[in-house]
Amino acid sequence: MRRSNVLVVDDEELYRRALERILVRCGHAVTTARDASEAMTAVSAEPLDLVLCDVRMPGISGLELVRQIREIDPDLPCIVMTGYDSVEHSVEALRSGAFWYLHKPFEGSLDVVRRLVEQAIEHRRLRTENRLLQSQLRSRYRFDNIVGQSAALRGVLELVDKVADSDSTVLVTGESGTGKELIARAIHYNSRRADRLLVSLNCGAIPEELLESELFGHVKGAFTNAVAQREGRFAAADGGTIFLDEIGDMSPNLQVKLLRVLQDRSFEPVGSSKTQRVDVRVIAATNQNLEDAIRRGVFREDLYYRLNVIPIEVPPLRRRKDDIPLLVQHFLDRLTAEKGRAIEGITEAALARLADHDWPGNVRELENLMERLVVLRREGMIDLGDLPPAFRRRDASSDAASVPTMGADGIDFNAVVDRLETQLIVQALEQTGGNKNRAAQLLGLNRTTLIEKIKKKGLDAAGRSEPAAVPPGVSIS
Ligand SMILES: Nc1ncnc2c1ncn2[C@@H]1O[C@H](COP(=O)(O)OP(=O)(O)OP(=O)(O)O)[C@@H](O)[C@H]1O
Ligand SMILES: [Mg+2]
Repeated sequence: MRRSNVLVVDDEELYRRALERILVRCGHAVTTARDASEAMTAVSAEPLDLVLCDVRMPGISGLELVRQIREIDPDLPCIVMTGYDSVEHSVEALRSGAFWYLHKPFEGSLDVVRRLVEQAIEHRRLRTENRLLQSQLRSRYRFDNIVGQSAALRGVLELVDKVADSDSTVLVTGESGTGKELIARAIHYNSRRADRLLVSLNCGAIPEELLESELFGHVKGAFTNAVAQREGRFAAADGGTIFLDEIGDMSPNLQVKLLRVLQDRSFEPVGSSKTQRVDVRVIAATNQNLEDAIRRGVFREDLYYRLNVIPIEVPPLRRRKDDIPLLVQHFLDRLTAEKGRAIEGITEAALARLADHDWPGNVRELENLMERLVVLRREGMIDLGDLPPAFRRRDASSDAASVPTMGADGIDFNAVVDRLETQLIVQALEQTGGNKNRAAQLLGLNRTTLIEKIKKKGLDAAGRSEPAAVPPGVSIS
């Protein structure tokens, strides 16, 4: 076993020498100090495992010394030596945080001294080991739900780790579906606000008039429907974190109000002149290029700089393709359990094709595809043939080859066109993670036209997952 370093503090030379002898014989390394100030120098100079100190010393007393040492190193055990006659000193010693006490003189009880010293050193060792294990546990479980080993993602997580505990405002940017919300949650749950609320608000999903009241609350009668006073999200998040998603969609009017909250953590509820103060950490996210929005005059530059204190950019999936196999496995494990399917895995060929894809919808697109595959496949291995047409396209030698040739008997025009339509719609839905608005944009169709087609073709029932239905943009966790 490693030699332990023991510090002996006593103003009487006799005791210093006696203890040193005993301890050295037990195999420990010993440093001595004559008073509290020499002792403090030794404590900060070298790593110690145990301190033995006398109560009565000129200057600072042994009990005060124990308090000071524990402030520097709460795990360093101290044994206090008191006279037989002073019971109150023994009690005081324990109260000041001493590990235990020894009565002086200790001739005849050397075994007690030795045993106590060993116990204290073992206690120290266990405490240190426990702390080490705890910190390993923490780092193992902290980002448990964030899958990926790529350098790009690791860089993001290192940054999250570094900034989580500060109160600084964070701006998370990245394409749609990259995991911005996941990162925001990781920041909150790794911060010292973790046991308080994380309040999320999607600024893009709420009309401007409602958004102000949603953020800051309103008083009774503030507007037509304000029948009662209502607390806003900032007040709800007091002591915790607020996550403002799609911040790029916020109107200029509200941008000014948000700027003020960021500057001095104060605001007025709609219809009220009474200023409220909150202690809230702000995390904002956007998939827009805000610098661009500033140039276009739709986003305030001053707000941008207030938000962008700590920028975190979540890289698109195509720039961290190493993560694809891990994510596929992660989603397969989760979804087969959730849906009670017996999927055994995915073939190398199919996985290679997925790794090759560009993933414009990023992790959400991959997650949706895996869900569809698990639901449709039900059991066995997922293979190339199970992948949607967009992934199989390269099997056909060219686009032209997928246009059927007209036989002598003509062709079933409607059926062919219908098939082609279905393929395009499925592709668009896949790319947008099931977002019909964006899918309609991609196809250059009206939203209503697209919805009608989806209904007619029964594509809704094909295991396609819609984004979870939540009240407009609001969630509290
Ligand atoms: N590294 C990852 N590990 C596991 N799941 C992930 C990872 N990244 C994203 N996801 C999952 O992908 C989906 C999309 O993630 P998230 O909602 O955080 O993305 P986003 O960037 O906020 O998207 P949007 O811009 O559309 O709001 C979620 O279901 C999330 O759990
Ligand atoms: Mg999001």
